[in-house]
Amino acid sequence: MFAALLLAATTVSAGAIGCGGHHIGARNLGMGNPHAKREYDPKALDVTAQCTSYNYPPVADILTQFPTNWAPATILPSDTAAQQLFSQLNQTLGQKVGNVQVKVGTQGDFSGYQYDNAADPDCWWTKTRCTEPKDTTIPADIWRLPEPNTWGFGFDDGPNCSHNALYNFMAEKKQQATMFFIGSNVMNWPLQALRAKQDGHELCIHTWSHSAMTTLTNEGAFAELYYTREAIKAVTGVTPKCWRPPYGDVDNRIRVIAGFLNLTNVLWSDDTFDWMEGTNNVTSETVVANYQKVFDQAKAGNYSTYGAIVLNHEINNKTMQHMIDQYPNIEANFKYIVPIASAMNWTTPYAEANETYPDFNQYTSGQREGGPVASGEGNSPGSTMTGSAAASASSADTSKKSSSTRNSAAGIFVLAGVAAAMLL
Ligand SMILES: *[C@@H]1O[C@H](CO)[C@@H](O)[C@H](O)[C@H]1NC(C)=O
Ligand SMILES: *[C@@H]1O[C@H](CO)[C@@H](O)[C@H](O)[C@H]1NC(C)=O
Ligand SMILES: *[C@@H]1O[C@H](CO)[C@@H](O)[C@H](O)[C@H]1NC(C)=O
Ligand SMILES: *[C@@H]1O[C@H](CO)[C@@H](O)[C@H](O)[C@H]1NC(C)=O
Ligand SMILES: *[C@@H]1O[C@H](CO)[C@@H](O)[C@H](O)[C@H]1NC(C)=O
Ligand SMILES: *[C@@H]1O[C@H](CO)[C@@H](O)[C@H](O)[C@H]1NC(C)=O
Ligand SMILES: *[C@@H]1O[C@H](CO)[C@@H](O)[C@H](O)[C@H]1NC(C)=O
Ligand SMILES: *[C@@H]1O[C@H](CO)[C@@H](O)[C@H](O)[C@H]1NC(C)=O
Ligand SMILES: [Zn+2]
Repeated sequence: MFAALLLAATTVSAGAIGCGGHHIGARNLGMGNPHAKREYDPKALDVTAQCTSYNYPPVADILTQFPTNWAPATILPSDTAAQQLFSQLNQTLGQKVGNVQVKVGTQGDFSGYQYDNAADPDCWWTKTRCTEPKDTTIPADIWRLPEPNTWGFGFDDGPNCSHNALYNFMAEKKQQATMFFIGSNVMNWPLQALRAKQDGHELCIHTWSHSAMTTLTNEGAFAELYYTREAIKAVTGVTPKCWRPPYGDVDNRIRVIAGFLNLTNVLWSDDTFDWMEGTNNVTSETVVANYQKVFDQAKAGNYSTYGAIVLNHEINNKTMQHMIDQYPNIEANFKYIVPIASAMNWTTPYAEANETYPDFNQYTSGQREGGPVASGEGNSPGSTMTGSAAASASSADTSKKSSSTRNSAAGIFVLAGVAAAMLL
């Protein structure tokens, strides 16, 4: 069975990988008024109780200022602030990336789209795993960590309504994570999002509707990021400076749009494909084996000069439970388990300069609160420190090729093949 899938994978270069956003969207289509009731118990463990919608006035009051949940975002006609910001971006976008085409594909699967992979003019990760644009004025992506023997700990696609067991577990372990939140989920489950901030997790953006960003117009891509940023700010009080594209789907056009919003792109080095469990014969054992592959990398010394950023999801009970089950194995195979901000020394990770985060030394010596940071001295995503950290991360390896070599480990492509097969 796997041989056939492997064959399929080699003909479908870079099929859909990353996140299972299509599942999320489908699950949410039937969601009615998300703010009908007023109940929330941060200690509840029962899924039905946790996922019963509630009324939260701070969000109910601003719903009309946001796009429709789970629909691809556009700038609202009434939103002059967003329009002004976009037209400012729009003035330079044409000359900078005007030659980058809007891509055509479905849910991260671009197998039918013609693109010159060898020349890779757009540094399009989906096709080539490119993370460093040739035009050095366009920000490079982060896909692994400058700190060796380190597991970059984070979750995509949250907040999931039923995340209390996972969050309680992390609180008990004094473990903080980087949460790549979907704007529509934040609006549906604001108190779950707030808990993440209150528990000390780092908040990043994972778009409004989990669309493949390179398929969107400039305005659409801007709106996906802008409104998620606004939603997180409205609910938690902070403005993230980091993001992750659904399916990893990013090219230079999208990098410039995100960069304008001061967002640093954080991709990954290893993928657990946890979201695929239950689809196309992907079993719990397959996901466990995918975790084991990351441990094997560490055992082989492959993380002795830099650290891993591992992709897994806060999407449902299975993905969250896998992380809880695997946590002792992560501890056994990696010296440090840290959120991205700490691994990168982003001591001021948000636009709000008074919001601080522990740097790597602080975090690994047990400190869970940020600071002290002298005024104006914190490091942010996109700051000089990030630049040097990113540079040292890439100099730790000889070429970009090694990333695709690692990603093309047979098991990983077997799964990419499953995803592609499913979507075709
Ligand atoms: C964006 O710029 C293009 C030209 O590059 C122009 O045609 C378009 O009207 C502009 N859109 C906005 C919203 O400013
Ligand atoms: C980006 O950050 C700079 C420096 O802090 C700030 O002046 C600018 O307003 C920010 N841009 C956006 C779109 O938030
Ligand atoms: C799942 O497994 C069954 C039995 O081996 C097989 O018939 C079927 O084609 C598989 N489905 C996919 C999508 O691989
Ligand atoms: C470690 O990295 C090398 C070089 O990229 C690779 O060939 C090898 O398969 C990796 N080891 C494991 C256990 O993944
Ligand atoms: C959140 O997780 C629960 C439990 O697995 C699941 O039933 C629900 O569909 C998930 N919600 C979303 C939006 O994915
Ligand atoms: C998953 O569901 C089981 C059964 O309801 C429950 O015991 C477990 O705590 C849940 N795990 C998570 C992470 O929510
Ligand atoms: C930062 O400043 C804002 C606005 O004054 C305030 O609401 C917030 O609580 C402050 N955060 C911290 C961590 O002090
Ligand atoms: C983070 O800061 C510490 C000093 O506090 C330094 O030793 C380490 O190299 C820095 N890491 C990065 C990635 O800049
Ligand atoms: Zn995702």
